Amino acid sequence: MSESPKNWIYRHTINARICHWIMVLSFVYLLYSGIMIFLHFPELYWGKVGFQGYPTIFKLEDWGISWEQSEELGDRRWGRNYHYLFAWVFVINGLVYLLWNAWQKKFYRKILPTREQLSPTNFKSEMVRHLKFKAAKGEQAKQYNVLQKLSYLIVLFALFPFMIISGFAQMPAFTAISPELIDLFGGRQTARTLHVVCSLLLVVFVIVHLLEMFIAGAVNQLRGMIIGKYEIIGDEK
Ligand code: HEM
Repeated sequence: MSESPKNWIYRHTINARICHWIMVLSFVYLLYSGIMIFLHFPELYWGKVGFQGYPTIFKLEDWGISWEQSEELGDRRWGRNYHYLFAWVFVINGLVYLLWNAWQKKFYRKILPTREQLSPTNFKSEMVRHLKFKAAKGEQAKQYNVLQKLSYLIVLFALFPFMIISGFAQMPAFTAISPELIDLFGGRQTARTLHVVCSLLLVVFVIVHLLEMFIAGAVNQLRGMIIGKYEIIGDEK
């Protein structure tokens, strides 16, 4: 290889890499098992009450799949087993990630946008670059851009905690000790509906995240997330 050593950086800490891949695995299982659970009860309600025949806010039947067909596609027993297993993996992994990062102060520098990055000029130029599907180059590629930082902050500190809280609000064993959690949502059915809506937002995030990975160079990005080594290509223009 002819690259000079200065073209390589260590992009992700060992903590970020291990927790990232555990999170990917648990997310895939949580999503798949969640779909299996949903297919066994393919309607969503708002408030405290929900049963077949009760007014819905969403039903799969409106999309051409009858309750019986949906039930056949789903598998609630398998889904519940794996959803509960990976919910714990997800929660414990998330805690390890946050505590480990809180201890390594570099995390805040890496993920919090700087004042300069938050300026309208930078915001606009990042939007334009993203809309043109252009990868960041040179110095710019050494750190996360402002849109990336904001989306990671939203996922880590809003969507993930929301999934966990709305998940706990659906667990009878947990709400028996803490019924306030159901009141917080105004009913178990609302918690369930919002859990599904938030899953869809996470799916949108994952699609955009993967698209960005391909635009920025999948091999380089994946190598960075596996062994940490990341190649800085070209200059900024
Ligand atoms: C972040 C990834 C996650 C995704 C994509 C996801 C997705 C889903 C989906 C689609 C359902 C089906 C909703 C239904 O029809 O009842 C569901 C149910 C559920 N989820 Fe999650 N979930 C995630 C994380 C969690 C976590 C972290 C917890 C626990 C803290 C949790 C607890 C639950 C519970 C208790 C149910 C109801 C299961 C049942 O009816 O037995 N989920 N989830």
